[in-house]
Amino acid sequence: MTVARTVHREAFSSRTVFILAAIGSAVGLGNIWRYPYVAYSSGGGAFLIPYLVALLTAGIPLLFLDYALGHKFRGSPPLAFRRLSRWTEPFGWVQVLMCLAIATFYACVIAWAASYAWFSLTLAWGDDAEAFFAGTFLQQGEATMFGGLVPTVAIPLVLVWVVNIAIVAIGVERGIGRLNRFLLPLLIALFIGLVIRSLFLPGAMAGLDAFFTPNWAALGDPQVWIAAYGQIFFSLSVAFGAMLTYASHLKRRTNLTASGLVVGFSNSAFEVLAGIGVFAALGFLAAQSGVPVSEAAAGGPGLAFVAFPTLISQMPFGQIFGSLFFLTLVFAGITSLVSILQPPAMAISEKFGISHRAATLSVGTVAAIVSISIFPTTTGLNTLDVVDNWINNVLLVSNTLVMVVVVVWVVRKTPMLARHLNGVGSFKIGGWWTVCLGIVTPLILGWTATQSVITLLRDGYEDLPGALLATFGWGVVGGIVVLAVLMTFVPWRNEDHLAAGVDLDDPREEAEAARVDGPRRDSRSDDGRPHTPSKEDSE
Ligand code: PHE
Repeated sequence: MTVARTVHREAFSSRTVFILAAIGSAVGLGNIWRYPYVAYSSGGGAFLIPYLVALLTAGIPLLFLDYALGHKFRGSPPLAFRRLSRWTEPFGWVQVLMCLAIATFYACVIAWAASYAWFSLTLAWGDDAEAFFAGTFLQQGEATMFGGLVPTVAIPLVLVWVVNIAIVAIGVERGIGRLNRFLLPLLIALFIGLVIRSLFLPGAMAGLDAFFTPNWAALGDPQVWIAAYGQIFFSLSVAFGAMLTYASHLKRRTNLTASGLVVGFSNSAFEVLAGIGVFAALGFLAAQSGVPVSEAAAGGPGLAFVAFPTLISQMPFGQIFGSLFFLTLVFAGITSLVSILQPPAMAISEKFGISHRAATLSVGTVAAIVSISIFPTTTGLNTLDVVDNWINNVLLVSNTLVMVVVVVWVVRKTPMLARHLNGVGSFKIGGWWTVCLGIVTPLILGWTATQSVITLLRDGYEDLPGALLATFGWGVVGGIVVLAVLMTFVPWRNEDHLAAGVDLDDPREEAEAARVDGPRRDSRSDDGRPHTPSKEDSE
């Protein structure tokens, strides 16, 4: 019984490696590239408040839920949900498919950043960074459905995919673990250096002022709250299946809640740090051009690729600052991208009973082909904006809403999951966790989902053509939901062991796990310290 469960499951070698990998997943383009423009267009400094509320009421509670599901049920999202309760499997598939959709454009932004690390050396954008970004570099034309391929963007994108697929195929510990052990410390050191540098730029303080001065009026705008919750989910990688999958690769006896707090607060610390750095730099830009900070830069996904180049050109030794800045984007992006490919790869490997490597190669190749044919094109920038907006603000919130309601109120598994988290934990969770998950999160998500669907239906999105929104917005969302349901009807290849042995809900399974894991009291043997070898650990 236990053997069947552990056959495919590679484990992180220690809790430290897991925490590094989880922080690597969380800290990504979301923190450096997405956060500034989301914050910027959602009330600037005022954004900090809804952002922190979102972290505490939804981010951390959902992170614990992800960890509990992945760790208790030891599977990719569809398998974990199926083991939670047979018919909840589609939630897992929606998560996996959202990961695939995100991977397609996420990789593309990493490719831009890699190109810009190179461009920085010669300040290749000249005097007009905006024209360079959209025109010379991305060659954006009219907002149509499909545009021609832009080879200079497509080539770095191919490289990003090759690296990503290779690392995930190598495996959890030797690929993902090793990558994060190496890149994450480097990323943090580099980034702190860059933020300190920005703080010494003339005008930096005005930028910080804009970042930290709350604009209370913005707090009354539902869009600001929607953006804050969307940002927290994206930034913490919660409810996408990424954290759930990483937790499934943890050894049995691991302190999940403490790890979760470390990951959650590290990610937000990094994000606020990024906000400080970015706004300090925007303050400098505003001072140079003699305008208020709020007008210093255009919004939208281009912010990092327009405002930054402009200010890099104006600062002393900007070439070095610039290439290091874009390099941190690449590093942060890669450590996240591997966590976005891992859940689909794992899910396919488990569903069809094929090796992890074969699954990674096939899913990765399909995603890469889609990614390369849609985003490095003359319409790619708009398409990217649309897919990002619909996945995060429509599908993610709706899927998560229904999922938490089902877990808390329909299958009523939160007490059991809380028990699992508390089994090895330095503090107990229970009451507040259930209240956040069962009441606060659904209320906010319900309101958020309704608001964003109504607004999008009524007003469209950024004046983009309806056909584009229908295809890459509603079409992608609808397609994912349909495919998720269909996938549930595809039989599991290893149905036997699923049905026969691994109902972890079964008290006998719990007893078996306890037998394998040893007494629960010794709660700290999870990290590096030698402990009694068990079948579970002997992979
Ligand atoms: N959290 C990552 C970031 O901030 C993105 C991500 C989203 C990773 C979803 C995994 C899953 O960039």
